[in-house]
Amino acid sequence: MEKSLIILKPDAVQRQLAGKIISRFEEKGIQIVGCKLMKITMDLASEHYAPHKGKPFYEGLVNYMTSSPVIVLVLQANGVIAMARKLMGATFGCDAEPGTIRGDFGGSKGFNLIHGSDSPEAAEKEVSLFFKPEELVDYTLTNEHWLFGDND
Ligand code: RTP
Ligand code: MG
Repeated sequence: MEKSLIILKPDAVQRQLAGKIISRFEEKGIQIVGCKLMKITMDLASEHYAPHKGKPFYEGLVNYMTSSPVIVLVLQANGVIAMARKLMGATFGCDAEPGTIRGDFGGSKGFNLIHGSDSPEAAEKEVSLFFKPEELVDYTLTNEHWLFGDND
């Protein structure tokens, strides 16, 4: 099943919004298969945001991501990459629709609470960057049928 790497960024942890943000995914029925609190090193931030290297916001971005602990999650569901991006909303809270995570919890142009993988290729790379295979937990949600099942 599809997986996505989610980072609750330093502002989400410092503003003590982690529980509320994780609830958005749980309420949608998305399964958590990996979770940890950690500090991102400069090397890890550079690797994770390598596609943005050279852009004007790059230095501010890696400084932000290494400034304070983050909570990293691996979410699993069919279509979870697109679903998580919809739940997150537009890149910055000031532009994001109400009802989305970024739209409901912030208005900053620099701090935007959350990262989510944007493609299957990025998800695969990002999950393996942040988690060892044995840190991902294989289990079945008992209500999986009702959450994502079909009625045929
Ligand atoms: P993310 O990768 O963190 O999930 O966010 P995203 O896809 O919505 O945005 P992306 O274009 O990938 O940019 C990555 C992160 O860089 C910062 N950013 N700053 N000042 C700017 O113009 C600017 N643009 C992007 C944001 O922290 C964004 O999440
Ligand atoms: Mg991105």
